[in-house]
Amino acid sequence: MIRTYIADNEPRFLEELFSLIRIPSVSSDSNRKSDMLRCAERWKELLLSAGVDRAEIMPSAGHPLVYAEKIIDPQAKTVLIYGHYDVMPAEPLELWKSAPFEPEVRDGHIFARGADDDKGQSFIQAKAFEFLVRHNLLRHNVKFILEGEEEIGSPSLESFLEANKSLLQSDIILVSDTSMLSKDLPSLTTGLRGIAYWEVEVTGPNHDLHSGHFGGAVANPIIVLSEMLAKMIDERGRVTIPGFYDDVEELSPEERAMIASIPFDEDAYRKALDVEELRGEEGYSTIERNSCRPAFDVCGIWGGYTGEGAKTVLPSKAFAKVSTRLVPHQDYNKIAQQFCDYFQSLAPKSVKVEVRFLHGGHGYVCPIDLPAYRAAERGFEKAFGRRPLAVRRGGSIPIIADFERVLGQKTILMGFGLESNAIHSPNENMPLDLFRKGIEAVAEFHIAFDELVK
Ligand code: BES
Ligand code: MN
Ligand code: MN
Repeated sequence: MIRTYIADNEPRFLEELFSLIRIPSVSSDSNRKSDMLRCAERWKELLLSAGVDRAEIMPSAGHPLVYAEKIIDPQAKTVLIYGHYDVMPAEPLELWKSAPFEPEVRDGHIFARGADDDKGQSFIQAKAFEFLVRHNLLRHNVKFILEGEEEIGSPSLESFLEANKSLLQSDIILVSDTSMLSKDLPSLTTGLRGIAYWEVEVTGPNHDLHSGHFGGAVANPIIVLSEMLAKMIDERGRVTIPGFYDDVEELSPEERAMIASIPFDEDAYRKALDVEELRGEEGYSTIERNSCRPAFDVCGIWGGYTGEGAKTVLPSKAFAKVSTRLVPHQDYNKIAQQFCDYFQSLAPKSVKVEVRFLHGGHGYVCPIDLPAYRAAERGFEKAFGRRPLAVRRGGSIPIIADFERVLGQKTILMGFGLESNAIHSPNENMPLDLFRKGIEAVAEFHIAFDELVK
């Protein structure tokens, strides 16, 4: 019945999703404030037409949130669905085959910024809900909370949670904003990495210099910055910040065995990225490295002359955006301090260094013995025809740990993305078959939830 419903309504579903995607809700762009509000308003309309009995735009210290609910019975259980309507910037635009905010279906995929992360995925939640409402199958309350600041680290959401605890009361939180191992390996996400993110500024001479007059005699801040960054990872692939691994929980032999049993095609992984060799922490497999072990990355680096042609200059300043992915138990506040102290200590006297902490978030682990987790397994089983694997993923959704701390509730991560969906990258996309299976899996989750969660 659900499959017929999805097939019969697909043109409308796509038009609705496209209406969200066409609004460039880039949260980091201060020129997009009115688009953020427009996107929140569009979500409100779509949730109302999907069957909620109340929907509101709620202001926050930053971009507004959308809250909606359908209360069947105040005594009944409640599922709180979280998603985010903001997206990452689409740049570099020239690498897109079709315009990022003009969704296009090609070869069975929707191509657009937000097609997966997280407009496509949260829309899956809305349409599963719509199916249940229209067929009178919903036996528990459903609440939706959609934020507009996930991609900038959810700076306003924690205080919003504190202020709205009873509004957001629930028995479980459900999120579609993660990825599966592959199309043939449906998987439920049982863990997320934490994150800490900084901008660093290295200043050499007090103004840009002629590199003929000064080159060779004065430290070049770009070279110094490169040297400092190169020291962050040692020859064994380990992060060199003192104390960095102190709170890292070693994987249990059982979890390692489970990961080793995943039929993961490392050659295909490598080839899809066009790299001849993979690189990471010694002693760990690729899946362990990208999901259960911490990592250090440079996300951007700039300084000096980058315009057309050549300019002989010894720049005054160099900058980088750097981040660490953390595992559960590593505290991003502690790491933030350790990094700051260590990075300063690496600086030679020839430069001054400033470290600015931009945002942080804790990791998360989901136990696999929760009744709601079993309901999610059943949802995947019905839609994909096989039991989902339980895997941790390397991405971060910092608010999930706050949900646990502030609202006292665990989150089930029913994500339908793929690494090949190119989230945050040019040509982000969502395969239509996963979009359909996602709606089916979530609808079946709700049905199983009523049976399993008493
Ligand atoms: N949806 C992603 C997180 C994600 C993707 C988790 C795939 C697991 C698998 C989310 O929108 C995201 O991109 N989060 C940011 C963190 C944030 C603080 C900027 C991230 O992981 O970089
Ligand atoms: Mn996301
Ligand atoms: Mn994202």
